[in-house]
Amino acid sequence: MVAIHRESFPGYYLTSLGPSFLQAMYSWYVQSAEAIAHVALDGDGRVAGFVAGTVNDSDYRRSLFRETWYHMVVALGQRLISKPTQTLRLLGERKDLIWQALATILTRRSREAEQTNAISDKEPPTAGLVSIGVKHSARRSGLGTALSELFVREAWSRGCEGITLSVREDNVGARRFYESMNWEEVSRSSKTYHGSFSITYQKVMTDKQTSRATPVREEFLPPLGPFLGEEEWNEVLDTLQSGWITMGPKTRRFEELFAEYVGSRHAIAVSSCTAGLHLALVAGGIGPGDEVITTPLTFCSTANVVVHQGAVPILADVRVDTFNMDPEEMRKKMTPRTKAIIPVHLAGQPCEMDEIRAIAEERGLLVIEDAAHAMGAKYKGRMIGTISDVTVFSFYATKNLTTGEGGMITTEDEELAERTRILRLHGISADAWKRYSAVGSWYYEVLFPGYKYNMTDIQASLGIHQLAKQEKFLEVRQQYTKTYTDAFKDLPEVITPVVKDYVRHAWHLYIIRLDLERLTIDRDQFIEALRKENIGSSVHFIPLHLHPYYGERYSFKKGDFPVAESLYEGIVTLPMYPKMSVEDVEDVIRAVRKVVAKSRR
Ligand SMILES: Cc1ncc(COP(=O)(O)O)c(C=O)c1O
Repeated sequence: MVAIHRESFPGYYLTSLGPSFLQAMYSWYVQSAEAIAHVALDGDGRVAGFVAGTVNDSDYRRSLFRETWYHMVVALGQRLISKPTQTLRLLGERKDLIWQALATILTRRSREAEQTNAISDKEPPTAGLVSIGVKHSARRSGLGTALSELFVREAWSRGCEGITLSVREDNVGARRFYESMNWEEVSRSSKTYHGSFSITYQKVMTDKQTSRATPVREEFLPPLGPFLGEEEWNEVLDTLQSGWITMGPKTRRFEELFAEYVGSRHAIAVSSCTAGLHLALVAGGIGPGDEVITTPLTFCSTANVVVHQGAVPILADVRVDTFNMDPEEMRKKMTPRTKAIIPVHLAGQPCEMDEIRAIAEERGLLVIEDAAHAMGAKYKGRMIGTISDVTVFSFYATKNLTTGEGGMITTEDEELAERTRILRLHGISADAWKRYSAVGSWYYEVLFPGYKYNMTDIQASLGIHQLAKQEKFLEVRQQYTKTYTDAFKDLPEVITPVVKDYVRHAWHLYIIRLDLERLTIDRDQFIEALRKENIGSSVHFIPLHLHPYYGERYSFKKGDFPVAESLYEGIVTLPMYPKMSVEDVEDVIRAVRKVVAKSRR
């Protein structure tokens, strides 16, 4: 059943569609009025917003409308046009901003109205129908129909359950349009308007017809994705044509450039972050019986490599604000067998490195930072990659910097670096490139039983150019995350990320936390609802101790890490990466708002 809420007052029907829709739009329905649409353009001539409204010969109403328009222009700082043909041409281009503009103006308008008691001092209804008065003098332009269509489509996609609108009886084109769309005629005005009666049509949507079946976007938006350009393609081509495709001169160049970017003494390219973490443990002498402390809120490979070494992963619960390992919890987990700590900078926000380093120094522990998410992050002004004994980055396909698969180890320690370089390629004394080059020698010696963890020049070709783009990418990530955080400010159901003021967040992931007490659905249903809107999302991460292997092997059970578990229940990673457009970001916002509005308690 669709509830119709309508408050009337002299000359107006004020209708709305619940809190979220209310923010997006009020519409004025004024008997005997003409419709006006104004479009505001941005500096590039694109539509930045428009407002449609009605004016009749009442000075008061005219001034009301003018004032609304004035607010909009002030809000947008744009110039405007009012020619119907241009309006029509531009109407469809920036609907997102149109709605934003309406939200700004109309909520403000209603606030002012409440103060002056000119419209209504009652709380708006939470569901119902919206009336759109579209009668216009320039009706042959098709403006009225176009405006109505726009409102109708937007209203449906925002969860509107039904719409009424009025047209002049002699506006045959518009009437034919609404009738062809199966709009129902619900009333006829008894008063003429410029010699013609008006007819009110209504369409009540079934669940299938409304937003419930109309996703906010047509194409699926993946939760994560790489952004590769021509520079990368050309470099790979150059490598393929060069005659040397595995680890060689380009890997060396990538390592040098990476060390320069991070400011580390050594950078050693490897086949993955997992491989790098493993090598760091091997090179650091971690072996059977040793204990290594890490966080439960991480990808499995952080702990898998500890198991590979015969060592024991010990988990320390996380902080509820940053989702990162809590140094206090870490301290509680120390035993005489503790040999190393692996802090994980979740989502790209650095851990509390001062506290972690202080504990490590006190006890002579090796610190290996898992910086899979923290490319370009800073902690108290220092780049991640320069702080601990060893730091390992990931260049997996979805990471801030990608080489498809790949990783980088950075360290200040000369000896550790040398050992790691040898270990990454079978434990032999000279790599193949050196052996097979004109100046090389066929001779080599095996110094350790090493690994095959090297990078290839094909991967490094991508890395060289991805690295050059990192600061630009980070700017885009910062801009998008700010847009998200601003857009969700008024939703108490959505808790946005907390960022410490002494870090530069790498923004690999934008993780929101749902306040499940305020919603009728759980996290999994939320993700499913987003998917139906064609928005992909994900969860980072399922806490390690809840995985069968870790639960059984180390006798972990539910309740062992209450903070990580309670976070896990409500976290959702939203799409956020430089390849996304501003429109994609706005689609995500609309989808989140829509799902929240539909599932609000
Ligand atoms: C926190 C964390 N550590 C380590 C890794 C492993 O990275 P890679 O795929 O490069 O081995 C990942 C991968 O997603 C990760 O998220």
